[in-house]
Amino acid sequence: MKVLGIESSCDETGVAVYDTEQGLLSERLYSQVAMHAEYGGVVPELASRDHIRKIVPLIRDAVSDAGLGMKDLDGIAYTSGPGLIGALMVGASVGRTMAWSLGIPALAVHHMEGHLLAPMLEEGAPDFPFVALLVSGGHTMLVEVKALGDYAILGESLDDAVGEAFDKTAKLLGLSYPGGPELAALAEQGKATDIKFPRPMINRPGLDFSFSGLKTAALQTWQKSAQTTEAKADIAYAFQEAVVDTLCIKCERALKQTGYQRLVVAGGVGANKRLRARLNELKAEVFFPRQAFCTDNGAMIAYAGALRLAAGQQEPAVISPQPRWSLESLTTLREAV
Ligand code: KG4
Ligand code: ZN
Repeated sequence: MKVLGIESSCDETGVAVYDTEQGLLSERLYSQVAMHAEYGGVVPELASRDHIRKIVPLIRDAVSDAGLGMKDLDGIAYTSGPGLIGALMVGASVGRTMAWSLGIPALAVHHMEGHLLAPMLEEGAPDFPFVALLVSGGHTMLVEVKALGDYAILGESLDDAVGEAFDKTAKLLGLSYPGGPELAALAEQGKATDIKFPRPMINRPGLDFSFSGLKTAALQTWQKSAQTTEAKADIAYAFQEAVVDTLCIKCERALKQTGYQRLVVAGGVGANKRLRARLNELKAEVFFPRQAFCTDNGAMIAYAGALRLAAGQQEPAVISPQPRWSLESLTTLREAV
């Protein structure tokens, strides 16, 4: 089954074609980062308009890269939520309408299900069950994944998501947008000093997170420092260590609590090199998608949609994106993978 996947939940227009027999056939991505950089963050209305400009040419290119025509597609999957309503509306309208006009099924994909299945696009994909650490700009979650669609949230952030904490701290330190990767790059220039930030909520039982205090701690340390490039890099280092330590401690706890041996890491912050290195030291099998599939992309949506479409699931002819959508409410498909 050849499925076109469309991602447009935030500031990336991602399109891909996945074949349940041959795997990923093509993938195209357009990032709006340069456009939003001027404003220091994503401007929702500009995001929607840019998705409108880019989405159809990207679909044409991805389908032709796959060596196919539109009539060869067997289904269309699009991100239906969570995300920015205007941005979601673009992908959902284009995807649902194309499916209707081609007379093929369409499927609304949960963005976070896309992220958590992304490591399955790689060689040596994990088997179920596993613990998933989802770390993006909008979410920080530990999820018990028993089967496709059988998700129980073990813990989540009570305030800022990890990516958001990286982005806000970077902004306070005067780094350019998008802050996360910039701050991570700066941390690589830094070293261990006596700056030590808190590891939030590790002394309490449970698997929830709280990252909002770290940005203030980083800002205060910066204001009191010599304000040199070296001082900034050392603060970035201490911030990254605090985040990575906290995530590692909670992942270890989640593995212990579930008794699972496998950990899947996904979402934009999964691209962080220090996090990858430290999680690889855990006593578990750890799976990551390639860096390009950590951040938003069409391939993960095409893949998640293909599994569900191949199992017979499909949407009625209605366009109804869901900016808020619980991961635990999805239909379980035990035989799909
Ligand atoms: O999954 P994603 O592309 O979009 C959302 O669904 O949110 O994640 C984007 C987030 C941003 O907050 C970005 O700063 C962060 O992931 N990020 C990183 C790194 N690369 C991306 N954070 C830390 N280190 C990185 N290398
Ligand atoms: Zn995402």
